[in-house]
Amino acid sequence: MKKVLILYISTTGNTEQIAHLLNEALSDNDFDITTMSFDFTNLDALDLLQYDGILFGTHTYNDGDLPFETDVFLDTLLTLDLNNKIVGIFGSGDTSYSYFCEAVEIMKDEFALRNAIVLEHTVRVNLYPDLDQDLLSIHKLASLFQEALLE
Ligand SMILES: Cc1cc2nc3c(=O)[nH]c(=O)nc-3n(C[C@H](O)[C@H](O)[C@H](O)COP(=O)(O)O)c2cc1C
Repeated sequence: MKKVLILYISTTGNTEQIAHLLNEALSDNDFDITTMSFDFTNLDALDLLQYDGILFGTHTYNDGDLPFETDVFLDTLLTLDLNNKIVGIFGSGDTSYSYFCEAVEIMKDEFALRNAIVLEHTVRVNLYPDLDQDLLSIHKLASLFQEALLE
């Protein structure tokens, strides 16, 4: 059974809701899914090595930055080789900021540099994911992720 990690950071619940919808969209598959949030877990990036696929979610903070809570995780991530891991990135931001959902783009690059197979499609939602276009984008990521894992 393929092991999947849905790992996210969310302060006001918007990215958390995307994580929840991705989990729901994948639940028909025979995947062993673990969901973790940076708020409650002291996750070591080394733990990523146990999973076949990772869905990583983050909101964007000041001027297109990642939230500071991910700092230690990112330091370890730099040391990993994630060859053959399937990775999808998602997040919430706010279109009123100049660098909308920039943290999603940063993480896409970080995972690609670690040799992961990063899906080109990302989910970038303005605040809470309740528009049709948000749900379509979330389902598209889930379906591409599932296809890549089962290939
Ligand atoms: C101080 C601050 C800075 C922010 N900077 C950005 C930003 O640069 N780009 C962006 O897209 N959103 C930015 N946001 C908006 C958050 O990413 C947005 O509210 C998001 O929905 C929060 O997600 P969460 O509910 O998962 O925490 C910022 C929010 C705050 C409070």
